[in-house]
Amino acid sequence: MSNLTHLTNAGVSVVIATSSGTPSILHWGRAISPGFDASALVQTQLEPTPHCDFDEPQTIGIWRENSRGFIGEPTIKGSRPGRDWSHHFTVRSTQLDGNTVTYVSIDAEAELEIEARFELTEQGVLKLSQRVTNLGLSEFTVEALTSYLPVPDYTKDVLDFHGRWMRERQPQRQAIRVGNWVREGREGRTGHDYTLIQFALAEGTTFEHGEAWGLSLAWSGNNRHVVERTAIGRTSMGAGELLLPDEMVLASNESYQAPTVVAVYANDGIDGASHRLHSMLRARPNHPTNIRPRPVTLNVWEAVYFDHDFDKLAALADAAAAIGVERFVLDDGWFGARRHDRAGLGDWVVSKDVWPEGLGKLVDKVKSVGLEFGLWFEGEMVNQDSDLYREHPEWILQAGGRIPPEFRTQQVLDLAHDGAYKHVFDQTHAILSEYDIAYIKWDHNRVLTEASHYGKAAVRKQVEAIYRMFDELKAAHPGLEIESCSSGGGRIDLGMIDHADRFWTSDNNDALERQSINRYTSIAIPPELLGTHIGPTKAHSSGRTHSHTFRAITALWGHAGLEWDLTEASVEDMELLKGWTSYYKAKRGLLHSGRTVRVDGSETSNQIHGVVAQDKSEALYMYAQLTTSEYSRPANIRLTGLDSEATYLVKVVEPAGAAVGMQLLPPKWYAGVRVPGAFLASSGLRAPVLRPEQAMLIEATRV
Ligand code: DGJ
Repeated sequence: MSNLTHLTNAGVSVVIATSSGTPSILHWGRAISPGFDASALVQTQLEPTPHCDFDEPQTIGIWRENSRGFIGEPTIKGSRPGRDWSHHFTVRSTQLDGNTVTYVSIDAEAELEIEARFELTEQGVLKLSQRVTNLGLSEFTVEALTSYLPVPDYTKDVLDFHGRWMRERQPQRQAIRVGNWVREGREGRTGHDYTLIQFALAEGTTFEHGEAWGLSLAWSGNNRHVVERTAIGRTSMGAGELLLPDEMVLASNESYQAPTVVAVYANDGIDGASHRLHSMLRARPNHPTNIRPRPVTLNVWEAVYFDHDFDKLAALADAAAAIGVERFVLDDGWFGARRHDRAGLGDWVVSKDVWPEGLGKLVDKVKSVGLEFGLWFEGEMVNQDSDLYREHPEWILQAGGRIPPEFRTQQVLDLAHDGAYKHVFDQTHAILSEYDIAYIKWDHNRVLTEASHYGKAAVRKQVEAIYRMFDELKAAHPGLEIESCSSGGGRIDLGMIDHADRFWTSDNNDALERQSINRYTSIAIPPELLGTHIGPTKAHSSGRTHSHTFRAITALWGHAGLEWDLTEASVEDMELLKGWTSYYKAKRGLLHSGRTVRVDGSETSNQIHGVVAQDKSEALYMYAQLTTSEYSRPANIRLTGLDSEATYLVKVVEPAGAAVGMQLLPPKWYAGVRVPGAFLASSGLRAPVLRPEQAMLIEATRV
């Protein structure tokens, strides 16, 4: 086996050399034609020897050991009491299998084995998994096992995402400077502030153009992403699980398998990276749209909150059926003493107070009008005011005998405890067995504090337990879909994506706020996995009032649904909704398979977002006016992603009503014009002068 490995796929290359005795990445980026001189390539990357430095050039490999002269955070941090904190791994085997290469190295002194597996998928996405094994007899404590990848010196900016409840994934972009820019999540769940992906960008990289390198940790617990520029001038990105003290103590022969890090490179902008991720995820056989189209969903939370009443819910089901809804989800409040958010969590039995005859009557009603039934759970949580807590107060996550501070009046169950796990599984399984339930919305409404299992830090155990719970529930109930919700978008990540079928993107259904939340969340997550609902006219989250059209168009760009008391919708609204659901059904094939494009704009007052069929035969775009335009005549609407050689029929469609303008006359092309793709992408169409918080849809069809 040569000491150089070249993985290449879909315009991306990764070149790794082991000539120095440790794997070191020579290149991760644009594709290199095979047939190059391996030793020449290695030579190009040997460092100079400046004054006041090591006397010989050092090759720092992927494990970044101090013993090799790396002055910074090593890949693996850990020790045995008083020793083996510094390591020196020597490669023992390199195994190449298609586009996957696995390196195993040993540190004989420290009695450790480390393995790194690089898989370059068909879509050019690099998946990096690492494992460390304790070969010694005494315990070895792992503090961190981070996956680092080098990025070019010319990367200029770091782009990542921050947030809070109701305002998830807001972009922040800044210059990369010497030092570490670290994003940590310590909530015990993914968290609203989870970056979801962190990018290093070349100068001027935008959605449409330029080079982007991104890392995303496929994990639903504590997390860490870092962009590091060292004083010697090298830049790297890293991601890994953030382990709590003593959370990972390896006994003899035990291993720690770190969560996979998903790494994406693109030279066609942030959207190019997004496209690669979407394509990789869509290639999974169990990707929801490979099984069936995503049904229009009505979630009743904002319509009734805890006020469960059969007649009201039956009326909602009738209204939902009348406008073409396909799935009806009963949210919080159906179980135990859950008449408000201070009691009942943990008791997953149908409440006799509100549902004296069980849920059967409602399920039958919903099914009789042609809808599927979905139900809410929050199995990891318990209220102190619950039968479960009264019986098993010892089942909550706590340390040192302290009851953690209340958070939405609830505590977290220690699912690593067999009894607690079994309780939640059995009760959920019983409900799913008794009723015909197609879908569950699984919530998680508090952060974990002092997460501890018999005194040991246990965030990881909790994450493993919920993955197992979802997998076992699905195995026991074939076809069951699970939505991952966590006070809105607090548990959206590339780890949970393999266990859940949908994410609740945000509790904020205000369409203006959702414009950005949806736009940035969908960089890493394909839109068909993101719940996007039409909220009430006056948003419960913000008090803002938005037109039907703006709300409906905003909600089209995901797994669409509603979160609205339809029994109060006007006749006109119901007509519009009917048109909207049938339009969504007609277009969901395109929306959920096409390439997402986010058009670079010259104004921040509007945004253009679209989906283009993979064969470029058709596309749908949204022109959203967020605030008033900077100009009296806004910038042209460019439609990107189309075949520049082809001609398209472009027209405005109004399945959810018309945008309200501030103009005497709209532009002249609305009814349909035939325009070359290249012209649409560069010159574009004259934009209308819309009121703020308005949106319109534009269809492009190849002629
Ligand atoms: C938080 C979720 O994000 C909401 O959609 C809703 O399900 C409530 N919890 C119910 O308590």
